[in-house]
Amino acid sequence: MNLVPIENKNAILEDPFFTQEVEGVVKNIAGKVATKYGEDLCGSYLVISGLAQILKFMDPRGKTVLDLGCGTINSFYNNSEFRTFEPWLARALHEYGANAVGVDLGSLSSEEFRGYSLDLRDPKALDFLADGSVDAACAFSLFDSPTANGTGYKMAQSQKGREYMDELMTGGPTLFQTLVPQLKRVLKPGAPFIYESLGIR
Ligand SMILES: C[S@@+](CC[C@H](N)C(=O)[O-])C[C@H]1O[C@@H](n2cnc3c(N)ncnc32)[C@H](O)[C@@H]1O
Repeated sequence: MNLVPIENKNAILEDPFFTQEVEGVVKNIAGKVATKYGEDLCGSYLVISGLAQILKFMDPRGKTVLDLGCGTINSFYNNSEFRTFEPWLARALHEYGANAVGVDLGSLSSEEFRGYSLDLRDPKALDFLADGSVDAACAFSLFDSPTANGTGYKMAQSQKGREYMDELMTGGPTLFQTLVPQLKRVLKPGAPFIYESLGIR
């Protein structure tokens, strides 16, 4: 496994890797996803930056890409105006031709990609994946949270929901430690685990 911590998701857009050609590819997929699931500015941004992070390491077409905490239409952050945490990247990977596998606490039953609704804090959460079966894994905005830093309150719909999410997210380092041995097992040798980190290594 190749651990790839990302400190700033936006930085990829300034990276020399992000050529006009790459930009064209990711914007094309973002456009297709927007047409299919409805235009959403945040969604488009997440597709563009997330897909670019993965393309920097590999062409995901035909490859198994695992998106941890992929997002869900059930998130209490989502509403009709601001659909930030729907599973945009997993949808985009699927649209691009990857074998996208998304995992989230919330429901993924209406999605076209392979979705599993489960709690990643369970040390056996990834048991459904065979050894060495995954080409790349990613986790964007899983180990930190808008509610944890106080900027997400507008989106939270209930005090109960907010407290539950705070409890989940302040466990970021523990969740990371729970996931690493499982990812070592399921990822192919040298395959990247690209994750947005708040200093977690
Ligand atoms: C902030 S959203 C990020 C969604 C998406 N990855 C993105 O970058 O937009 C975090 C997601 O992680 C999920 N999540 C949080 N804790 C989880 C856990 N213990 N197990 C599975 N999913 C979890 C939440 O349900 C939510 O959909």
